[in-house]
This record gives sequence, structure tokens and C-alpha cells, in this order.
Amino acid sequence: MSQRTEQPDSHHRRPPAEQRGRTVHGEPANAGHRVLAPDDAEVEAYLETALRVPPADRIADGIEPGPDSVLVLDFGSQYAQLIARRVRELNVYSELLPHDTPWAEIARRRPKALILSGGPASVYDEGAPRADPAIWSGSIPVLGICYGLQLMAYELGGEVTPATRREYGPASVTITSEDGLFTGIDREQPVWMSHGDSIVRPPDGFHPTAQTDSTPFAGLADPDRHLYGIQFHPEVIHTPRGREILRNFVLGIAGARPTWTPAGFVEANVAEIRNRVGSGRVICALSGGVDSAVAATLVHRAVGDQLTCIYVDHGLMRKRESDLLRATFQQNLGMQLVMVDARERFLRRLQGVEDPEEKRRIIGDEFIRVFEEEAGKLGEIDFLTQGTLYPDVIESKTAETKAAVKIKTHHNVGGLPADLRFRLIEPLRYLFKDEVRAVGTELGLPEAMVLRQPFPGPGLAIRIIGGVTAERLETLREADWIVIDEIKAAGLYRSLWQSFAILTPVRSVGVMGDGRTYANVVAIRAVTSDDGMTADWARLPYEVLARISSRIVNEVPGVNRVVYDVSSKPPATIEWE
Ligand code: XMP
Repeated sequence: MSQRTEQPDSHHRRPPAEQRGRTVHGEPANAGHRVLAPDDAEVEAYLETALRVPPADRIADGIEPGPDSVLVLDFGSQYAQLIARRVRELNVYSELLPHDTPWAEIARRRPKALILSGGPASVYDEGAPRADPAIWSGSIPVLGICYGLQLMAYELGGEVTPATRREYGPASVTITSEDGLFTGIDREQPVWMSHGDSIVRPPDGFHPTAQTDSTPFAGLADPDRHLYGIQFHPEVIHTPRGREILRNFVLGIAGARPTWTPAGFVEANVAEIRNRVGSGRVICALSGGVDSAVAATLVHRAVGDQLTCIYVDHGLMRKRESDLLRATFQQNLGMQLVMVDARERFLRRLQGVEDPEEKRRIIGDEFIRVFEEEAGKLGEIDFLTQGTLYPDVIESKTAETKAAVKIKTHHNVGGLPADLRFRLIEPLRYLFKDEVRAVGTELGLPEAMVLRQPFPGPGLAIRIIGGVTAERLETLREADWIVIDEIKAAGLYRSLWQSFAILTPVRSVGVMGDGRTYANVVAIRAVTSDDGMTADWARLPYEVLARISSRIVNEVPGVNRVVYDVSSKPPATIEWE
């Protein structure tokens, strides 16, 4: 229990801990959660524990999609987000909307095209997801993928038969019709197929464009009505020419202009933020991660000294990270930066704590206290900037239950005057992670910040197994520095999801010179992963491991043995705590 809940302070009027905020991933904050894309999620989770959650009402406060966008209607496929990403890789803005978005809402956005995603349903299922029938009118080009194609065929009078067997996995498709979608693509194509039901008769006006051994209708088109469909998934890497198919549709058939670029994004957003903030004041919590760094830099470019950033140095960061932050934001960008040296406070509270979840809880709680204290000193503040990303926004749009806890337009941070309300500025809420990095580069942020591997909010505290002390932190910081240094020198940093050292409580016997040693074992963890949900241990070259090991035992006092973690996730996790 935190002191604060034990000694309620009327000024804060916070609800009991179990009713307070949740992480951006909808899990209870500070409850030992594991998050997906952790860079800054933790700081947000900390903030959210201090916030009271008003009803869901997320007003779009970023850019309005321009005339050259492509809307993806989501029928539940795990690949739906990927379609939007692929379209954006063509420099065309793409947004994911629920499958039943009313036509009026679609038309309001003036998209150049619609793409219907796949999905797990059968068109015959009761309550099968449908789209507003007005999308078939021919006024906007439509590409149906997988379920999207079947729905198109079914709704327009074709015949679809329920599955006798599911076709799933790699397949070979033969292009049978010269068609805008397949311009420049060889007749025989490896593709990634996934369908249960089959189309047995296309609707009137459609002709087949592609076939496989198991279906003569792997592709259909009615060019007069600008309607196209493919049974396979062009968005996944297992369809090697998939990107060209999407390019043919988006840039060719739909005629969208490739205007979605980092420079364009910066320009539009700086103007937008300036307009919105007026003469107001903004604060931002910097975590050291890329999301908050990019969000803060954008806002700073828009409103300069009206922005104040708060960085809580909890002493659990890696070597030189706090220095890089100071150099980048204070010296290079000239930002108003409050760097709070809270190292002592965190250490004091962590003293003797061995349980990982207890460490997380304490760090989260202390973070909020420090943040509140500092924010309280700043006087009147109008806006809070957060690095919320598009995947969080999409999730909250599609999952009703999560929406209430994840969507906030007004935040009331305890510790500040009770009637003070922040409005949120989330300039990255339309961006995927890789786009955030591109914008960061565009803004001139250093590579070490923009391309940083994910780092957990509780930092090195959960990489020291057992009690955290200043001395053990120093040992781990030195060992970790060597790991990163050697991984970078070997050119491997970007190909790894994470690479780091863990300080174990195990001590083992060794010899050094003439003497016997009895010292710490350091473990090395390096993993490859797409999203942190699953991971495999990286097959690091022996020479790299050898250099890391010999440097650590020679350069880091108190360590005489190095081991390499060869566990995948699952069943192991990436972090050791
Ligand atoms: P695990 O260890 O669960 O980690 O496989 C998955 C990803 O989440 C990160 N992680 C955290 N991030 N606060 C965070 O912000 C945490 O408490 C936390 N625990 C794990 C981990 O680094 C990996 O990227």
C-alpha cells in the first residue's frame, strides 16, 4: 500500500488504488503488467494512475486525414493494421475504421479508396460483419481482401459456399486476367492464402482475375464499378509481390498521391498544435523513450517555451542516458527541461525489496509523487502532451470495454490544484512506431534516441535480481554498457529487439591472477521479436559473445562469470523479472 492511499489527502481526492488508472494497454497500472511496446508506455501508465477517467470521448485533435487517404475497414483480421501500414509505406495516409462505419462518416473523410480486410467470420455466420451497402456504389474504388472479397461477392449477388476445408498457408496463384491490380506482375505468384468459404459464382459484372488449384476465383474484378477482390493476403511478407499489388491499387487504380511523408507530417502538426495551444502552457513527461521524445520535440517546435518537460531521473536508467537527454533537449533544442534528481528517493524506497512486482509498484508510485510535486511548482498548465501511438488508438476504438479506460480527453492529475484540468495533446496518435522514428529523424533527434531498443519503465531495477543497491546498479550499468557497445560495434543493434545484461544474485568461484575470486554472475539476453509478445533468443556470433564476456569480466569489478540466456518466449519472458 502506498503511503498516499493510507493517508488520504483531501487535496488529491484520488479513488482507491484498485479503481485508478490502467495502462495504455488496458491492464491495471502498477499491477505487474507486461506491455507490448514499452518505450514510454510505463510513464503513461504511471501518469494514468494519478488520473481520474472521465467518460470516453476522444475528439480527433491531430491531423484530419487529407484527400489522399485510404480507409481500411476492419473485419477482424489479425492483419488489418498491417494493411494500413503497408499503404502508408507507399506514402499514402491510411486509417483503420470499424467495418460498419456509416457511409456518411466514410464520405466525410473523402478517401481515395477503401480496402476491406480479411476476418475470421463466414458470410453465413449469424451476425457476420457487414459494411454499409453504399460502399458498393462505385463512387470510390474498393479492394476486398479474403473475407472482404467474399462479402463483396455475396452482397452483390454472387454465390459463396460454406467451407468444406480451410485453405490456409502458402499457395501458388495464377493471374488469369490483365487487370490494373496485377500490372507488372508475373503470371505465377506465390501468395499467402487464408479462406474457409469459397466463391463458386461471381456476381454479375465481375470477371475472374486469378486462380489457384483449389479455386477459380482467387481474384475478381468489376473495373466499371471500381470493385476488386483477392482471396489471398497482399499485406503479409509471405506474398512477396503483395506490395506491388497494393501499390497498383492505391497509386494506380485509386490514383492517390503519395503525400504522406515525415516532413509533411511535421509541418501539418506544428501548425495544428500552435493553433490549438494558442498562448496556453504545456507539460510533458520525458521517459527517455522515443515516443515522448518525439512528441515533446514536435510540441516544442510549435510553441517553444510554452512547453516544459519533466524528466524524473530515478537512477534506474542505463549509462549516459540521462546525459544524452540533457544534451539533446536542454542544450541542443533549448527546451525548458526540469531534470529531477530523484535517485536517492527511489533507492531509499527500493531498499530491501526483492519481489519484482513490488519493485514495479514502488517505482510507479514514486514516479507519480515526484511528477506531481514538480508539475505543481509550475503554476497553471493547460495541456499535457503524451506519446500515445496509433495502435493504442485503434485498440480503444475497436474494443468497447477498453475504450472507457484508455480514452481520455481531460486529465486531472492529483497533486495539482483540484480544479485544474489538462487537455491532452497526442500528436503521435495517428502514427505507427516506425513512423514515429521517421518523424524523430526528420526532427533531427539523435539516432541513439530514435532507434533505441525498447527499455522497460522500471529500468535496471527489474534486471537486478534481488535487492537494488547503488553498488549493484553501478555494476549492472557497466556490464550493460559493454553489451550495447559490442552489439553496436558488430552492427547487430537494430536487428535485435532487445539486448542487455542481467545481474544475478548468484556468485561463483573463479581465478584471477593468482587469486581465487567469489563474485557475481552476469547473464546476457539478446532476443529477436516483432512485437515483444513472442521472442526467440538471438543466435549471436560466438566472437561477439566472446568479446562481451571477456570485456565484462575484465572491466567490471565484482563479476567473474558471464552466461548467455538461450530461452525463447514463451515459456520464458524477455525480462528476468
Ligand atoms: P516480457 O519480459 O514480459 O517483456 O517478455 C515484454 C516487453 O515488455 C517490456 N517490459 C516492460 N515495459 N514496464 C515497461 O514499460 C514494465 O514493467 C515491463 N516489463 C517488461 C520488456 O522490456 C519487453 O520489451
